[in-house]
Amino acid sequence: NPIKPPELDKCGVATNLNNNTPLDINCCPPLSQNIVDYRLPPVFQMKIRPSAHRVSPEYIFKYNMAIDRMKRLPKDDPRSFMQQANIHCAYCNGAYDQPGQGTLDLQVHNSWLFFPFHRWYLYFYERILGKLIGDPTFALPFWNWDNPKGMTIPPMFVDPKSALYDEKRNQANLPPAVVDLGMTGNTDPLQVVANNLTIMYNEMIRGNSDVYDFMGNPYREGTPVNPGPGASERGSHTAVHVWVGDPRQPSGEDLGNFYSAGRDPLFYCHHANVDRMWSLWQYFLPSNKVPDKRITDPDFLNAAFLFYDENAQLVRVTVKDSLDNLRMGYDFERIDLPWLDYRP
Ligand code: C2O
Repeated sequence: NPIKPPELDKCGVATNLNNNTPLDINCCPPLSQNIVDYRLPPVFQMKIRPSAHRVSPEYIFKYNMAIDRMKRLPKDDPRSFMQQANIHCAYCNGAYDQPGQGTLDLQVHNSWLFFPFHRWYLYFYERILGKLIGDPTFALPFWNWDNPKGMTIPPMFVDPKSALYDEKRNQANLPPAVVDLGMTGNTDPLQVVANNLTIMYNEMIRGNSDVYDFMGNPYREGTPVNPGPGASERGSHTAVHVWVGDPRQPSGEDLGNFYSAGRDPLFYCHHANVDRMWSLWQYFLPSNKVPDKRITDPDFLNAAFLFYDENAQLVRVTVKDSLDNLRMGYDFERIDLPWLDYRP
């Protein structure tokens, strides 16, 4: 059977998975008795998510204002900045058990739920921001770390006066440091860029012989956590988390730990690019090695999550409604893919 959405009223203590100790923060969401099955609204105008290194000052101003307003919402508003960050903690740090499965944890990482869960998470986050600035076309930026022009932390996130700033980051990896997707520790920027492109080529194309190699392994009701991540989750995705996380903090906070990752506004920009990788893989990349990129298993398609939408309505969403980003009303700015035929 598919993974069922969590029972919010049974949300409990979360665990710091970097050191396996209980967390002293409560990351459970506000309760609501009223859950609605979410229906994707008709798309009147496609939102276009821009590359974070290419956005205009006007865009940065709007984005900053939206995050600032999110930070000013009442603490118990499920749309507030901390409540949004806590979604990641609750779904990823063992605060939820699988309904009806005893104390078996619910975990959305390291499995085929990784892409769909984070896609829904960003979907509502983006809609909340759009609502807060009265702009229903607002689209999140993506951190274009797969392109040499985007391989540093996007500048708008490192302005200390901005709502996009977070002080808990590795100070050695602020711009102009080049992101190290292979966690090589190499400090020669040219070598790191070349290695990054090799990694992208491998995890997007060469290394995948079936759909699960990319998407992650099956995770069903009753399955123990972490059946195995897909290439992108295991590779570039995790590398960026670790690379940005602050070694001065006890546990890699913010981006380097599940419970705190969502407290850095950069998290959503990073994940917008992870989401873009999924979309590129599905609809754009050559499919000679994996001719069928769909997973038709009903345990995948019918898995479900709960989120609060932009109107603070609790909604139930399914994996099958997340498979096509165009149906969800957004697309990505077209950018070169220099790793596409990168065979060193
Ligand atoms: Cu839910 Cu990048 O992790």
